Amino acid sequence: MLDGEQIPFTAGQTIMEAATDAGKFIPHLCWHPDVSTHGSCRMCVVKINGRFSASCTTQAATGQVVRNNTHEMTSGRRTSLQLLFIEGNHFCPSCERSGNCVLQATAYELGMLSPHFDHFFPDRPIDASHPDVILEFNRCIQCELCVRASRELDGKDVFALAGRGMDSHLIVNSESGKLGDTDFDVTDRAADICPVGVFLTRGQGFTVPIGSRKYDLAPISEQPFAHHRTAMADDANDLGDPIDAADVVGIDLHPATSATVRERANHPSGAEVGR
Ligand code: SF4
Ligand code: FES
Repeated sequence: MLDGEQIPFTAGQTIMEAATDAGKFIPHLCWHPDVSTHGSCRMCVVKINGRFSASCTTQAATGQVVRNNTHEMTSGRRTSLQLLFIEGNHFCPSCERSGNCVLQATAYELGMLSPHFDHFFPDRPIDASHPDVILEFNRCIQCELCVRASRELDGKDVFALAGRGMDSHLIVNSESGKLGDTDFDVTDRAADICPVGVFLTRGQGFTVPIGSRKYDLAPISEQPFAHHRTAMADDANDLGDPIDAADVVGIDLHPATSATVRERANHPSGAEVGR
């Protein structure tokens, strides 16, 4: 049962897969159906029979009562989003991926109106060593989709995550640490699976005008992976709610999220799947 609705599933399916097949939207950043599951961003956390769990890593089962589109879940996800925005350098108005960015679209979906917390403004130099692609690390949310896609879909192993906590960052697997010294190709799935604007193709820019891009035309909850508009986005009262860390239940945040950030806010998330 997902948000009061019976959702069919097959044996072995996760709650995320069952919900997606049923056209129900559960916010997600590190999950993609084409690569193995990672379970790190925690955006998809739902409440299953009263307990928080990531829907992308939890198998659907009979008798589950899953809460997804609730104020509690939305509030926690919004806090997680705010933490992601302040950890990197996200300048949406000037980003080439604006309108095509899952992070930005999810922020719109969940009614995130401000970063709420102080920006970290990390120093993340770009990698312009490759002839066809520039890596703009400032936008990386460390979802590791490119890491998995390079390994599992491209048959390469170009990317990895290194460091811990605040030092966690994406690296390139070459002796020099530069993309230009790898066998990465602009057509690799690792590039197009990135949910944000890290991979920038040289010689291209704003070929599709702002306003005509994927998430400009329809909210992410109505896009192919997810067709269901969240209750949160429809709830005008929810849009301007201040985030109160005291109101949210602490769960594990992304490994890249620092201990400092953990102290500043917690994250709840919850849902119903089963039959
Ligand atoms: S570059 Fe993109 S796909 Fe890779 S970890 Fe960063 S945000 Fe994820
Ligand atoms: S989408 Fe499930 S933890 Fe990231």
